[in-house]
Amino acid sequence: MIRKRTTSDPTRVPALGALVFLVVAAAHSGDDALAPPAPAVALDPERVANLDQYACATCHTEVADEWARSAHGLAWDDRAYQASLESKRRPQSCHGCHIPQPLLAGELPRRPKPRDENKHLGVSCEACHLGPNGEMLGPRGTPVDAHASSVSERMSAPGSDGLCLACHSTNIGPVIGIGKDFTAADLSAQDRSCVGCHMAPIERRWADGENVPARTGRSHALQTPRDPTFLRRAIEVSWRTDGGRNRVVITNKAGHRVPGLIGRELRFRAELLDPGNVVVETSEVTIDTRAYLPVNGTIDIAFTKTGASVRVSADHIDPRSEEPIRFLDEALRASD
Ligand code: HEC
Ligand code: HEC
Ligand code: HEC
Ligand code: HEC
Ligand code: HEC
Repeated sequence: MIRKRTTSDPTRVPALGALVFLVVAAAHSGDDALAPPAPAVALDPERVANLDQYACATCHTEVADEWARSAHGLAWDDRAYQASLESKRRPQSCHGCHIPQPLLAGELPRRPKPRDENKHLGVSCEACHLGPNGEMLGPRGTPVDAHASSVSERMSAPGSDGLCLACHSTNIGPVIGIGKDFTAADLSAQDRSCVGCHMAPIERRWADGENVPARTGRSHALQTPRDPTFLRRAIEVSWRTDGGRNRVVITNKAGHRVPGLIGRELRFRAELLDPGNVVVETSEVTIDTRAYLPVNGTIDIAFTKTGASVRVSADHIDPRSEEPIRFLDEALRASD
């Protein structure tokens, strides 16, 4: 349910001189400007243990370090996952995507199958990289002593979308099949891809070794809504006036619905200010997984009065955090 609340509140906002008036900051969907992920809410545990016993990690130190802090590396150890299994009569029905067998070693499965060994490696390196003949699938197919490699379409955007969709199109457990939104909106035809938004380009060595140069690859530390800077990119904010009424329009620029997981909410609050920077009206809107924003969907934060500027803020409610996380706090003028 969409909850809207409007109140008149003539309180004076302190320190308004410090507010910067920004031009509408459109959320860039391209991957050029992705910052390294800086989650404000950590996973629990924070990192995959005993990496020194994992062969891939001993040669691919940097890639493994990124992956080890991601929800993929932690998909089994994740306390939230383990806790959710306690109430399940057939927990093994859950494991296919959390401890998968390699997906590309045969035909891409419609439902990934679970493996029995090395569960603490969650969505392991092999899950995505092991090819049909024991070789490693990659973007270049560089031959190395350690293993055979071959180039795979699945290891480039948009070819990798199908790999991501194999697990992210489901509606099992707390998961919302946001992959289906991406497919339905035909975003790959618009040059969008999962890795384009979720794996930032990064220049570093792909493997350890003296003769291995730095190359451009993609960070395995996934871009996550637990990082407020990344979550901000999901949202475009603009300010409109029609029929003498002001409203703030929120647009979803992510590649699927927002929010995208059970238990998450985005709470928006807009304050309408007069030319003296006095708040004349406050209005709020909350979106959650029942009242979500579809791809390119918009929602209005409406006012009954008019003003000279508006200040918009928004918090992310994430059950992994005790506190709401602020991801947006901006001021807009009528001309914006
Ligand atoms: C078809 C693949 C698949 C299956 C089967 C699956 N999951 Fe997941 N699970 C996922 C994906 C993908 C995510 C990440 C979703 C996201 O972050 O949007 C996830 C995330 C989770 C999370 C973390 C949620 C959070 O709030 O952070 C829990 C808990 C979970 N799954 C429990 C389960 C349970 C319980 C089952 C069995 C009933 C199950 N999963 C079966 C794919 C799957
Ligand atoms: C003994 C060291 C070593 C081990 C162990 C190792 N690799 Fe590699 N791997 C390399 C080197 C060296 C390269 C080449 C890097 C380069 O030239 O940029 C490479 C390249 C790759 C590539 C890129 C292929 C391409 O497209 O060029 C992938 C993917 C990969 N490895 C995955 C893995 C996985 C998964 C494991 C564990 C099952 C693993 N590697 C184990 C040394 C190793
Ligand atoms: C084998 C199944 C599987 C595949 C393939 C897969 N994922 Fe995931 N993904 C998961 C699971 C499971 C989780 C959540 C684990 C948890 O929270 O317990 C997850 C979590 C995520 C998250 C949430 C990260 C966070 O920290 O909140 C993102 C983003 C994501 N995956 C993107 C991708 C992308 C992009 C691809 C394709 C390159 C991909 N996934 C492929 C299973 C998969
Ligand atoms: C969820 C799937 C997934 C998992 C898990 C995964 N990778 Fe990757 N990896 C990819 C994709 C997709 C690419 C290609 C991205 C692109 O260039 O479009 C890639 C690229 C690479 C590359 C090429 C260099 C780069 O940074 O792009 C190496 C090397 C590599 N992976 C190694 C690993 C290792 C080692 C692990 C485990 C520590 C791992 N990967 C885990 C999906 C995965
Ligand atoms: C245009 C950029 C874009 C594309 C394309 C995109 N995403 Fe996202 N994704 C986002 C943004 C921004 C968020 C944060 C908003 C939110 O809370 O859902 C997000 C959130 C997520 C989450 C976390 C949901 C949660 O609340 O834990 C997962 C998992 C995810 N995306 C997977 C995918 C997969 C899989 C694909 C491809 C099928 C994909 N995304 C395509 C931008 C994108």
